[in-house]
Amino acid sequence: MEIPARKSLADKKNPVWNAKETTMKLMGIFCSTILCSLALAASQSRNSPVPAAAASDIPHLRKQGTATQLIVDGKPFLALAGELHNNSCTSLEYMKPLWAKIAASRLNTVLAGVSWAQIEPQEGKFDFSLLDGVIQGARAQNLRLVLLWFATWKNGLSSYPPNWVKQDSDRFPRAQMFGDATPWPVFGGPRFQVNGNLSIELMSPMGDATRDADAGAFAAMMRHIKAVDGQQHTVIGIQVENETGIQGDTRDRSPAALAAFDGPVPTELMNYLQEHKSSLIPALAKVWEAAGFKTSGTWAEVFGKGRPADEIFMAWVFSRYIGKVVDAGKAGYPIPMITNCPQEGFGRAPAPLKGGGQSGGAMPDAFDVWRAGGPKIDLFGADIYSNDYAGFCARYAQSGNPLFIAETGGGGVDIKAKALYAFGRHDAMAFSPFGIDSMVGDPSDPFGYDLISQIAPLILKHQGDGTMTAILPGPNGAPTKIQLGNYTLEVAPARPRGAPPAQAQSSPQPQAPASVAMFISTGPDEYYAIGRGVTVYFYPNPNTPGQTLAGLGTVEEGHFVNGKWVPGRLFAGDDTEQGQYLDLRNLGILRFTLYRYH
Ligand code: DGJ
Repeated sequence: MEIPARKSLADKKNPVWNAKETTMKLMGIFCSTILCSLALAASQSRNSPVPAAAASDIPHLRKQGTATQLIVDGKPFLALAGELHNNSCTSLEYMKPLWAKIAASRLNTVLAGVSWAQIEPQEGKFDFSLLDGVIQGARAQNLRLVLLWFATWKNGLSSYPPNWVKQDSDRFPRAQMFGDATPWPVFGGPRFQVNGNLSIELMSPMGDATRDADAGAFAAMMRHIKAVDGQQHTVIGIQVENETGIQGDTRDRSPAALAAFDGPVPTELMNYLQEHKSSLIPALAKVWEAAGFKTSGTWAEVFGKGRPADEIFMAWVFSRYIGKVVDAGKAGYPIPMITNCPQEGFGRAPAPLKGGGQSGGAMPDAFDVWRAGGPKIDLFGADIYSNDYAGFCARYAQSGNPLFIAETGGGGVDIKAKALYAFGRHDAMAFSPFGIDSMVGDPSDPFGYDLISQIAPLILKHQGDGTMTAILPGPNGAPTKIQLGNYTLEVAPARPRGAPPAQAQSSPQPQAPASVAMFISTGPDEYYAIGRGVTVYFYPNPNTPGQTLAGLGTVEEGHFVNGKWVPGRLFAGDDTEQGQYLDLRNLGILRFTLYRYH
């Protein structure tokens, strides 16, 4: 099997908010900003003016070659992150012992939920004291925050709005679905009550008042963050809502949603599709094509009858809603804003009342719809719990969407392998295992961030220039050839010393933790290999300078200190199978050179 070293420039088209940047800002010493802001917090209203912060100073995104980088304090930043459990940051007491453990586990960023109900317990009355404490806790440990705005939607339901919103279903209408009196059992219990009016505990995306209330609260929070953090940048991004979508049906069947679905597809979406026709995500183009590439009509006319049309409709109404929330937030403080999704494609939405996935989320098949509906959303984060980790990464990294792994865990390979792969193969800007509360504090570097932070400067330097890649060879995997720099690297899972290659393929070794390797080409004949459990052979690429055979020159193990390579042992003999191949056995870094002979 061959894989291309990198995705091509033509693969990039995501509109990225790109503030002009200036020189690096010195990280401020934790000081009185937060404390001064507490008084401000108590009195902050929806329209409070706040001092301006130069757009160039604040966290933003910037292109580097084919990659998109997160710029913090004027420099590219690799978010070695972790996501807390949903409600950890609702208690400062709970968080108190955790901050130091998180920092000790080498994370530099925490994804932390902020509840709308706690921010705005009464309409128009804001309380940012908890948020201030969270910022303070993170800042004291030199950690950055990506805040998760748990507001209208969380995992296809609406448990986070304040009670004054939840209790007023006239003003803040619920989504409805087709069904009978049978509750849909999810996670072992009845989830929805559908007797009578069919309403579910999901705010309808058709609710303009709900959207405006959410946007107002979000804008107030962003203005507050600007006031307390506009100089220090502890908060480097926001995830707006969480795993948006409808469950239990393919679309909202409330009266407003039914009328909209029977009405025309909005011009903004039709225009976007026509303008981007040649570069649309294939799954969306296929649905549109199958219905005849119509340029106007109802949703069923333009996208055909069936689930994809329902899913596209829901993606549109959710993205319009969230797009407006993002617009309001960015008007207050325009740092990068993302939204996340756990799914990959159309057809995963449930049949009415049958369970299954969600409909309408910012999944790869629907990226274009979301871009049309919420153009200021910077990127679509991936929540990857699937065993097909590499496949999910590729799908979320398509069409120019920067890879931001907002959540991961569960199946497939182990977390350390996942992290190395995402950064090396897809220029990921962030990697974040979910539920870190009980994983941190282990001195053995639970996520491999000790290693990755050593090479972060090298990774950031090489992002987007085609000189870096990574591979996850499965335990039974045939060798994979990767062209990188002047050589082709043939990578296979490590085999026992002295065993011939054929034996390695027919009797695979158990690989837990998984084999993984990141390669960075740093010169015509020089590479770094980072990872574990792989064997690498080399071949000169055609039309590159030198003789036709390649051998290992110098092989050093070592590590980086402040971006400088510090060599350890020098490898030859048994450690390279007498010079035949690179043997990256235990998790670590090898620097190696190749030479040519005939
Ligand atoms: C995915 C959600 O996005 C998280 O907030 C959390 O609920 C996890 N699932 C739980 O596994």
